[in-house]
Amino acid sequence: MKIFENLLKKNVADSPFAEEMREVTSNMYRLGWDERNGGNVSRLLTQEEATEYFAGAEVLRKIPLGFTADEIVRGRYFIVTGTGKYFKNVDKDPETNLGVVKISDSGEYAELLWGFKDGGKFTSEFPAHLMSHAARLKKDPENKVVIHSHPTYTIAMNTVCDIDELKFTKTLWKTNTEAVVVFPDGVGILPCMVCGTNLIGEATAKKMEEYRIVLWTNHGIYGTGRDMDEAFGLIETVEKTAQIYMLTLGRAVNIISDETLKGLAARFDVTPLDGVLK
Ligand code: 13P
Ligand code: ZN
Repeated sequence: MKIFENLLKKNVADSPFAEEMREVTSNMYRLGWDERNGGNVSRLLTQEEATEYFAGAEVLRKIPLGFTADEIVRGRYFIVTGTGKYFKNVDKDPETNLGVVKISDSGEYAELLWGFKDGGKFTSEFPAHLMSHAARLKKDPENKVVIHSHPTYTIAMNTVCDIDELKFTKTLWKTNTEAVVVFPDGVGILPCMVCGTNLIGEATAKKMEEYRIVLWTNHGIYGTGRDMDEAFGLIETVEKTAQIYMLTLGRAVNIISDETLKGLAARFDVTPLDGVLK
C-alpha cells in the first residue's frame, strides 16, 4: 500500500514552482548577486498547486515562526529557500536547499511538507518575506513572489548616494530610460539595520505597503511581483541602472531630463511616483 502511495506522490522537485525556484536561484548566482548563502526567495503556491501536490500530505515538522503571521498568509503554502543554503547548489539538490511549508492556522508555525531534507529550515529572512507577502497581498491579491538579493552595483550605489527615497528614485530614473517605465512607483529604502529579525521584517513590510522594491542600506534589495519574472525583472532593472550610474559616477554629461521622463511615463502609460519630477 505504501509503495502504491509513493508511486502516486507527485515529484515536488520537478514541479513548475520548484523549477522556477531552481532557475531563479541559478540565475542570481550566475549574475554574481548572491555570494555564498546570500539572498533568499519565496513563492506563494496557488490553491490549485497546493491541492495538486499536497492534499493530505503529512506534516514532516512543525517549525516555530518566531512571530505571528498575518491572517492573510495563514493556511497558505510557500516554497522557500533554506537558511545558510548556497544558491549555486539549489538546482542540483532542491530537496535539501528548498522547502515547502504551510503556515499554520494559528499563524505561529510553518508546517514542513517537503524539503529541508538535512534537518534545515527556512531562510532567516522569513519574517521579512512573510510580512512582505502579507503587505503586498493586501495591495494586490495576485502577488506571489518575494526575492531578496545582494546585487553588487545596487549596494555600491546605495553606499555613495543619499538614501532619501525620492532623490534615489530620481537618480535611477535619470540614468536609464527603462527605469521609470519598469518602476514608476519608485524605490523604498531602509537605513542599515540588523538583518534576520522581526524588526527589519516589520520595517520592510511597512515600505511594501507603498513600494514593490525596497533597498536595505549596506545589504541588498527586495523585489516583489505576481510571478518570478516580474520580481526578478524589477531587481534586474535596478541593478543594471545602478551599474550604469556607478560606471559613470561624476562624469555623466547626458542625464535624462524631467520632460523626457514625463514623456516616457506617458508613452508607456505609467504614473510616476508623486514628488519626484518637477
Ligand atoms: P539566509 O541564508 O538565512 O537565507 O540569509 C541570507 C541573507 O541574505 C541574509 O540577509
Ligand atoms: Zn541578505
